[in-house]
Amino acid sequence: MNCKIETPYYLIDEKKLLKNLKNIECVRERSGAKSVLALKCFSTWFVFDLMSKYMDGTTSSSLYEAKLGYEKFGKETHAFSVAYSAKDIKALKNIANKVIFNSVSQLERFYDEVKHIEIGLRINPGISYSHFDLADPARKYSRLGVTSEKKLESVLNKINGVMFHYNCENDDFEIFSSMLDEIAVKYKKILNKVEWISLGGGIYFTKNGYPLDKFCDKLRSFSKKYNVQVYLEPGEAAITNSCELVTTVLDIVKNIKDIAIVDASIESHMLDILTYRLSAKINAKTGKNSYIIAGRSCLAGDIFGEYKLLNKLKVGSAVRFVDVAGYTMVKKNWFNGLEMPSIAVKRLNGKVEIIRKFLYNDFLSDLS
Ligand SMILES: Cc1ncc(COP(=O)(O)O)c(C=O)c1O
Repeated sequence: MNCKIETPYYLIDEKKLLKNLKNIECVRERSGAKSVLALKCFSTWFVFDLMSKYMDGTTSSSLYEAKLGYEKFGKETHAFSVAYSAKDIKALKNIANKVIFNSVSQLERFYDEVKHIEIGLRINPGISYSHFDLADPARKYSRLGVTSEKKLESVLNKINGVMFHYNCENDDFEIFSSMLDEIAVKYKKILNKVEWISLGGGIYFTKNGYPLDKFCDKLRSFSKKYNVQVYLEPGEAAITNSCELVTTVLDIVKNIKDIAIVDASIESHMLDILTYRLSAKINAKTGKNSYIIAGRSCLAGDIFGEYKLLNKLKVGSAVRFVDVAGYTMVKKNWFNGLEMPSIAVKRLNGKVEIIRKFLYNDFLSDLS
């Protein structure tokens, strides 16, 4: 491993990425379901050349993501937005293959402008799998997708497809399967009329031990029954376990417990850990030495987690947080003016390349 890169840095390992991509390819071959990368989760386009060999395109949450997918990934460009502006639609109609609306009112407002391309509508089926209310698309008063069946039926002649995003980190095939059955019963009339159905993201089908055979059979029979092209929108499943955040201990302080402070921050560099009150996973042998590992922002709760390590930490020790590709680099920010981790890639041939370094000028230009 190349030790010369200055910390902090994200290290994407293409070999590990490839493992997920091969599973995705296998799902396409065995079930017919196409996979488009959810850019909201991972947008580090330097590895898109590899990813686009195994995936069918991208899906987006905004005009900028759609543009990125179109320019850097290619293949199919699906556009979704919780609410498009007129300006978004004007730009999107030249680059998107599919425009998916979140509401009937948006569909009706922009229909004439996009009717030459494929149009989809997001449906909120009223059921979901999520451990977090914050990320639950079917939470009370959710604005995500159309809930009224009557409204849906009124625009059926204007759409080619529908999107259901109702999972969040769902690694339970049986629950996925029974919820899909429920959706199929509820929306039978609609499913029989459209050409494609996206099942959204949040399905953890690349996790070790996930019953891929059953998953593929389910998707294939669903697709056959309703005569539809099925799409999946993996974010996390596409990049899981493929990246580390490599940091260095800058100080160790004591307040009852030993607290190691590293040269990164959860607030700035792994924001989801803070948002969802999780602990970062680290790559280290476990043992008897207890540490809180914390970030160097001013936020009192800037804590990666509490660990029991085999080796004692000291100033200069490396701490490697693992499984950090998703929802990290896309959310990183300049809070406290902290040095932004560089981005490095370990290529399939084992060579490590630094693909992006962030300097003071990036901080400066980001602010005004
Ligand atoms: C519509 C939609 N598609 C796909 C995804 C990707 O989900 P994940 O990264 O959990 O696979 C999300 C995540 O919020 C989403 O909202």
